[in-house]
Amino acid sequence: MARRIYLFLLVCFCASHALAADTLYQGGDSLNSSNTLVSKNKIFILGFVRIGSVESSASYLGIWYYNETSHPFWLANRDKPIADNSGVLALDGSGNMKLTYSGGDLVDFYSSPSSTTNLTAVLEDSGNFVLRDKNSGGQQDLWRSFDDPTDTFLPGMKLGINHTSGQTWSLMSWLSDVVPTPAGPFTFEWDPKGKELVIKRRDVIYWTSGHLTNSTFENIDRNTGFLSVSNADEDYIMFTVSSNQFTPQYPRNFSRWQMKYDGNIVDDFTKQAYGATSCKGNNADAGCEKWSGPACRSSMNSFEMRRGSFDNTVFSMDNNSSLSISDCMDICWKNCSCSGVTTTGNSDNNTGCTFFYGNLTPDPNGSADQYYVIVGQVSSGKRYWLLIILAPVGFVSMMGLAGVLWYLRRRRHREKYLNELLTLDSTNDTPELENDGNKGHNLKVYSAATIMAATNSFSADNKLGQGGFGPVYKVV
Ligand SMILES: *[C@@H]1O[C@H](CO)[C@@H](O)[C@H](O)[C@H]1NC(C)=O
Ligand SMILES: *[C@@H]1O[C@H](CO)[C@@H](O)[C@H](O)[C@H]1NC(C)=O
Ligand SMILES: *[C@@H]1O[C@H](CO)[C@@H](O)[C@H](O)[C@H]1NC(C)=O
Ligand SMILES: *[C@@H]1O[C@H](CO)[C@@H](O)[C@H](O)[C@H]1NC(C)=O
Ligand SMILES: *[C@@H]1O[C@H](CO)[C@@H](O)[C@H](O)[C@H]1NC(C)=O
Ligand SMILES: *[C@@H]1O[C@H](CO)[C@@H](O)[C@H](O)[C@H]1NC(C)=O
Ligand SMILES: *[C@@H]1O[C@H](CO)[C@@H](O)[C@H](O)[C@H]1NC(C)=O
Ligand SMILES: *[C@@H]1O[C@H](CO)[C@@H](O)[C@H](O)[C@H]1NC(C)=O
Ligand SMILES: *[C@@H]1O[C@H](CO)[C@@H](O)[C@H](O)[C@H]1NC(C)=O
Ligand SMILES: *[C@@H]1O[C@H](CO)[C@@H](O)[C@H](O)[C@H]1NC(C)=O
Ligand SMILES: *[C@@H]1O[C@H](CO)[C@@H](O)[C@H](O)[C@H]1NC(C)=O
Repeated sequence: MARRIYLFLLVCFCASHALAADTLYQGGDSLNSSNTLVSKNKIFILGFVRIGSVESSASYLGIWYYNETSHPFWLANRDKPIADNSGVLALDGSGNMKLTYSGGDLVDFYSSPSSTTNLTAVLEDSGNFVLRDKNSGGQQDLWRSFDDPTDTFLPGMKLGINHTSGQTWSLMSWLSDVVPTPAGPFTFEWDPKGKELVIKRRDVIYWTSGHLTNSTFENIDRNTGFLSVSNADEDYIMFTVSSNQFTPQYPRNFSRWQMKYDGNIVDDFTKQAYGATSCKGNNADAGCEKWSGPACRSSMNSFEMRRGSFDNTVFSMDNNSSLSISDCMDICWKNCSCSGVTTTGNSDNNTGCTFFYGNLTPDPNGSADQYYVIVGQVSSGKRYWLLIILAPVGFVSMMGLAGVLWYLRRRRHREKYLNELLTLDSTNDTPELENDGNKGHNLKVYSAATIMAATNSFSADNKLGQGGFGPVYKVV
């Protein structure tokens, strides 16, 4: 059996001292891995953070809460981790703001087109890191970290599109709990046409919020407001709470949405989660889209997290480190023989897949390994056999019933017919018909004789009989 190795997110906020400032100055001190910037009211910190398992920890320039060492809200180099602690954020004398490391330049944030600037980069209490030029009045934001979101949505940030520049603001999940690379499977976007928020998994719609009406969304359990702006320049949504409403006593009494690697949007204010938790494969409630999959995945099937062990010791692996747990679930869903899945556990990154087949024996006291299991499963083989058996049985039953109904109708017609005939002809056959009226044999013989006796007058009724005959012959 594959052994599931549990890895824990290691986030090391290793800096020893803060610059005791919230600002970088043009040509002034730079920021390296042993110092940080702290926003004015000590709400946010900008600095270098190490993320990953013990073996593969990588360094990122990030922004996080002052005393909360959980998950940085913003990362400057999520696609280009620095392997050592050589990262430096500098605002040089020529007015270039860039992130460098021992190997050279890593990220260019801004390059001043003029030599007469006096740039400052300020970490604000909103969590926004903003570059401005004092020499041009300091009003215009030359660059903002809020314009390049990672996976966290804060007051003051936008989700949507700037039509003039074509810039879009969206969130993208980490690949796994320990890998922040922007190849994560989930995005969180604002759809200006539908006026709704959308979670996509690998570009396929996974969950929708429902339309924004009266400042609330159908599938978001929240009453505080959203501001939606739609004009020729922009289409976007943001929290109505703005950053300058912080109070020193409750600096975090505002909204925060984080797009988790598993597809959940977690609301830090209501503690609610939207998306992945409710979308389990075949349900279309609570904003979920049904996953595309083969016919063997019925509406009874869903993915659930279960502890236990698989009876079948056969399993298969895909060690591709670009696959998140959600990709693994998608692959499993699309393969009728797959019944459970986990990330491999062989890599430090909690990426790659291990697929299981057959039944899971649950572990009620919860000490066994955890898997995503497809429950309510009717194995594809049984299902098809049932269909094969049930379909002909149903067909034959229906045809049989139709035949009986036709026969009864035909006989009723015939009786009526013959009664009319008998009353007309006053033949001696009447007692025989009455006595054996329920028996087809006698009736048939009798009617055949009568019909032969008077063919012409029955032509209309013969046609009716034929009309009833046709369909039955078809089904037989
Ligand atoms: C960071 O910069 C300070 C000076 O601002 C310097 O004393 C310190 O050695 C630097 N640390 C690293 C790791 O480069
Ligand atoms: C962080 O600091 C605030 C007050 O400054 C305090 O209320 C909160 O409990 C602290 N959080 C942690 C995780 O230490
Ligand atoms: C930049 O602005 C600061 C404060 O506004 C000022 O003290 C400093 O002298 C200016 N530097 C230059 C080179 O103009
Ligand atoms: C939208 O983009 C244009 C062109 O880059 C820019 O001038 C404008 O300020 C942007 N609008 C906002 C609100 O960022
Ligand atoms: C919109 O919300 C307000 C305040 O909650 C409420 O009074 C009003 O009835 C709502 N309107 C609609 C159309 O739901
Ligand atoms: C958070 O803010 C809301 C409104 O701004 C207020 O009603 C609520 O009491 C605040 N909560 C705390 C814990 O301060
Ligand atoms: C790994 O998975 C990614 C994402 O599905 C795919 O694009 C890539 O081709 C895969 N690589 C290999 C070697 O299979
Ligand atoms: C499903 O998984 C089994 C076992 O790994 C494999 O043999 C089969 O080819 C897969 N089917 C599809 C359609 O990928
Ligand atoms: C995937 O990784 C596991 C654990 O390291 C290894 O046993 C297995 O052979 C690998 N599979 C492939 C196809 O490389
Ligand atoms: C883990 O992730 C890091 C950072 O993305 C990457 O450099 C490393 O190659 C990955 N390791 C494996 C085993 O996939
Ligand atoms: C519960 O856990 C104990 C100790 O780990 C184990 O011996 C026992 O078999 C478990 N019971 C079940 C039903 O899994």
